[in-house]
Amino acid sequence: EKGGWESFMDKEIHEDPAAVQRTLLGRLDAHGDINLDEVRIEEHDFKAIDKIIVIACGTAAYAGQVARYAIEHWVRIPVEVELAHEFRYRDPILTPRTLVVAISQSGETMDTLMALRHAREQGSKVLAICNAQGASIPRESDAVLYTHAGPEVAVASTKAFVAQITAAYVLGLYLAQVKGTMYRDEIQTTLDALKAMPAKIQWILDTQTKTVHAAAAQMADARSVLFLGRHVGYPVAMEGALKLKEIAYTFTEGFAAGELKHGPIALVDEGEPVVFIVPPERGRDVLHAKVVSGIEEVKARGAFIIAVAEEGDRDAQRYADIVFWRPKCPTLLSPLVDVVPLQLFAMDMAKLKGYDVDKPRNLAKSVTVE
Ligand code: BG6
Repeated sequence: EKGGWESFMDKEIHEDPAAVQRTLLGRLDAHGDINLDEVRIEEHDFKAIDKIIVIACGTAAYAGQVARYAIEHWVRIPVEVELAHEFRYRDPILTPRTLVVAISQSGETMDTLMALRHAREQGSKVLAICNAQGASIPRESDAVLYTHAGPEVAVASTKAFVAQITAAYVLGLYLAQVKGTMYRDEIQTTLDALKAMPAKIQWILDTQTKTVHAAAAQMADARSVLFLGRHVGYPVAMEGALKLKEIAYTFTEGFAAGELKHGPIALVDEGEPVVFIVPPERGRDVLHAKVVSGIEEVKARGAFIIAVAEEGDRDAQRYADIVFWRPKCPTLLSPLVDVVPLQLFAMDMAKLKGYDVDKPRNLAKSVTVE
């Protein structure tokens, strides 16, 4: 069943490219329109949507946070992302024009299910982004966008995460088409860029695995690891931190890189491992420079730096002790590649520490109690 891999997690990380590719399949109809064939919400209802609230837990919530940057940019409506268990019990403001997007790999997470029921009771439409066919969450939703990552067995989610981002991006492009907030050729170009991502993920798996492994070997004894990112790199940092704590039981935190000077830098001491997600240099220059200055700050305090950075990034090369390289891609799509070395890193760390990477202690694949 593991198809020759040492663990399901190994196998599933190596299925990241296929998960993205399959989730993109058949989303375009003969007229070149994005077509959400499994979605049964009327187009005029989509047109009227003035707010999106993503509800999810764990990794799925980080996928929602990534998607928020793209959807707000493309569709120009506010997107909130909230942990389902917090959302449910705070009397959230929902109207028939709010689209609630429930993201869940298993489709059985009780916290997410209860939140979606609450949203529907308040008259909002719910669209599920789900991996498991026919699970409770898609069954109880008004519409479903399936991720086609295939069954995910390892408790720590990997390929489902990249598939969730992909599906949420397809939804964003669809909304941009319906609402007319993007030109057709822009939508097409973005879709083409998305289609190019599986090959870029594959490039990471083919070329960066050794570097990641060496980094893990150097850091297996670390007592804590900090993850920092900005813009779409921020949820990626949190997901990287989550993976490592889930399966290697290393104490980790993910922070917004801009927060560094407002608190987390106090944690940085000689030898403290800090992982930075460095944004691409072109286009969003400002962000790149700001993240690099964060790197310099922690470097000056003796931190051990791992950077996830674009090929050819000289600042990353100069300041980081280890660089996980990413191939060039649009900033908004970079999470699809950036998370991959972090998934491998967590897995390697857990293996080096002798843990069962597929079945971490205290965790279940799907939590069916509130
Ligand atoms: C947790 C799992 O319990 O639930 C995580 O261990 C997962 O891996 C989270 O991200 C949410 O699960 P789901 O199935 O709703 O995506």
